[in-house]
Amino acid sequence: MRIVRSVEDIRAAVYEARGRGATVGLVPTMGAFHAGHLSLMQAARAAHDLVVVSLFVNPTQFGPNEDLAAYPRDEQRDARLAEQAGVDILFAPSAADMYPDGFATTVHVAGLTDVMCGAARPGHFDGVATVVAKLFGVVAPDAAYFGQKDAQQLLVIRRMVRDLDIPVRVVSCPIVREDDGLAMSSRNAYLDAASRQRATALHRALAAAADAVAHGTTDADAVLGTARAVLDAAGIDPEYLDLHSLDDLTAQEAVAPVALLAVAARVGAARLIDNMVLEAP
Ligand code: PAF
Repeated sequence: MRIVRSVEDIRAAVYEARGRGATVGLVPTMGAFHAGHLSLMQAARAAHDLVVVSLFVNPTQFGPNEDLAAYPRDEQRDARLAEQAGVDILFAPSAADMYPDGFATTVHVAGLTDVMCGAARPGHFDGVATVVAKLFGVVAPDAAYFGQKDAQQLLVIRRMVRDLDIPVRVVSCPIVREDDGLAMSSRNAYLDAASRQRATALHRALAAAADAVAHGTTDADAVLGTARAVLDAAGIDPEYLDLHSLDDLTAQEAVAPVALLAVAARVGAARLIDNMVLEAP
């Protein structure tokens, strides 16, 4: 596996591979790899001749009081794991490479970014959309791989690609969970033992709601009440716990016949998100 640091070098590497007729898969990441990231790399590996993983802790998607400085970074470990996953190129640019002096462009996807994490983290999705647009421009992949855990991010990127006619296929991969249901996240590293235990309530809350839906409950208040009771019992006050349309994230009054149940909550030192697609029987 090659480690490439500059925009110029990654362009040259992809250009050379394309000359050989290679298809290119991109997995955009901020590093601190876990099994969720590895599942994206494996999906890309199975589908493409050249697999590029970008590793860039993107400063523009962190708010002023967020965890940019504390965000876990271990490039050597990440490089080892990416290599074991069969990745061809780890693209690890500097902030100066991604945002050279005079950088003045922001990609804003309206509407979808007003709710959920967009409401709680102003500017976050502008940072995400801008850096992903830049990565798509630099790497020019055939397809890019994202996890369904960041369901809102996935919709924002799909909308950006559609609106701007960016010729990249956006592939979503299922959430990867720990044995006890906690969704894999680089931010799980912030959890101490007690918080780690409490954090399982997020998945248990979603699962309880899914179970209620499977037994015929579809009204939003009832479904959300079921999930909230599980969070209450764990002493977790969610930042949001909502039912949304799968297409445009508008609030849903009922699971009719499908809806996205999404939650965000602070548990100990970590802000965690999780979601589940609910389907009425
Ligand atoms: O999901 C992430 O890790 C980041 O938001 C992404 C897509 C790599 C953009 O920085």
